[in-house]
Order: sequence, then structure tokens, then C-alpha cells
Amino acid sequence: MSSESTGKLVVAVTGASGAIYTQRFLRAAAEIYSEIFLVLSTQAVQVAQTELGVSLSKDQFSTESWLGKHYPNIKLLNEKNYYTPPASGSFRHDGMVILPCSMGTAGRIANGISDDLVTRAADVCLKERRRLILVPREMPWNLIMLRNLTQLAEAGATILPACPAWYTNPTTLEELADTVVARILQNLGVEQTIQKQWMVD
Ligand SMILES: Cc1cc2nc3c(=O)[nH]c(=O)nc-3n(C[C@H](O)[C@H](O)[C@H](O)COP(=O)(O)O)c2cc1C
Repeated sequence: MSSESTGKLVVAVTGASGAIYTQRFLRAAAEIYSEIFLVLSTQAVQVAQTELGVSLSKDQFSTESWLGKHYPNIKLLNEKNYYTPPASGSFRHDGMVILPCSMGTAGRIANGISDDLVTRAADVCLKERRRLILVPREMPWNLIMLRNLTQLAEAGATILPACPAWYTNPTTLEELADTVVARILQNLGVEQTIQKQWMVD
């Protein structure tokens, strides 16, 4: 991590498929960042229940049951509460990752509709020129989705689709998911040991 780093990261989880990416990313990021501000959309909670069988509802939320370890540096924020640090440009952090990013959330951010903490915090990143990484998952993409993603890229966001790589010959779902997780960490500019760089010993 660079000397200019705040050690703070904002992570939003929305209702696209890919709960395994979030789980594995948070485990890795929690070992790197001193504080992670986490926002879950209502639909993210539903999808995590479907895909991982875990309950992320506020009354039952526990990093231990979700990530296998208690991480006191992961702070769950209420998605409707704007009286929280990521809602303001005055809060300095190292970036925001939306993982996975639904096409609905991408569309709202692309069109300036900041109607919850996920979209507001993303809006703030764009206006403050902070790093914003969206990890969308949908297929196929219609023209509206493609235009929204283009608009976001033009506004300064990084579009890092959940497209796992096969050239590392992954043998488990976890290894496959980690090909995406490693690229997110690389794009955040932090050291990652999950995946070797291509053709580097
Ligand atoms: C099991 C499940 C999987 C879904 N997968 C996707 C997906 O991969 N991409 C997507 O854009 N929406 C997906 N959706 C639909 C979104 O959850 C829905 O559009 C929702 O309104 C998104 O809300 P959010 O952006 O506030 O999280 C899925 C829904 C369910 C129930």
C-alpha cells in the first residue's frame, strides 16, 4: 500500500449474481485495508442467500458466518443512511468497489440517480475523481446496458466485468473466482498474492 493510502476502502454489494466473488474479495481485502465500509443493497442480501445460503440481513449479519472469520475492520452501513462517511466528498478513502454490480445499479449511477448509499457513494467517487471499480455481471448486455457502462467509463469509472480467466487452469470454483478477485486488487493498486502475474516468476 502506498504512503498516500488512507487504508480505507468502500465496498458495495448489489443484487447481481456472483456472491462468491464478494466473499473471496472481502476476505483478501480485510487483510489489507484497515477499514472497509460495506454497503449491501436489499437485493444483494437475497442473492447471497440463494447462492451461498448465508443470511446477510442486518439483524443476523456476521462476518464470521459469511467469511469464516470475525473481521472487526469491516463496518456494515445502512444502505438508506446518508449520515455515514462514504456519502460525503469530505471523507477520504482509497476507492470504491461495487461487487457484483447489477445492471440496475450501473444504470442508476450512470444517470445520476443517487437514491441510496451505494449510488450516492459512487456518485461521490466520480465527482471527487476517486477510484471507482464496477464489477458488472449480466449476459447478454443490451444497448442500454452497454451505453450506461460506456457513460460510466467516460466519467472515470473502471468497468471490470466478472469474466473469470481460464488460462491459469483453475481446478475449483474458488480458484476461478479468484482470477476476478486478483484483478480487482491489482486495479486498486495493492499487492496481491492470489494470482501470479502472467509470465513473471
Ligand atoms: C438470483 C438472482 C440473480 C440475479 N442476477 C443478476 C445479474 O447477474 N445481473 C443483474 O444485473 N441483475 C441480476 N438480478 C436482478 C437484480 O437483483 C435486480 O435487478 C435488482 O433490482 C437489483 O437491485 P440492486 O441494484 O439495488 O441490488 C438477479 C436477481 C436474482 C434474484
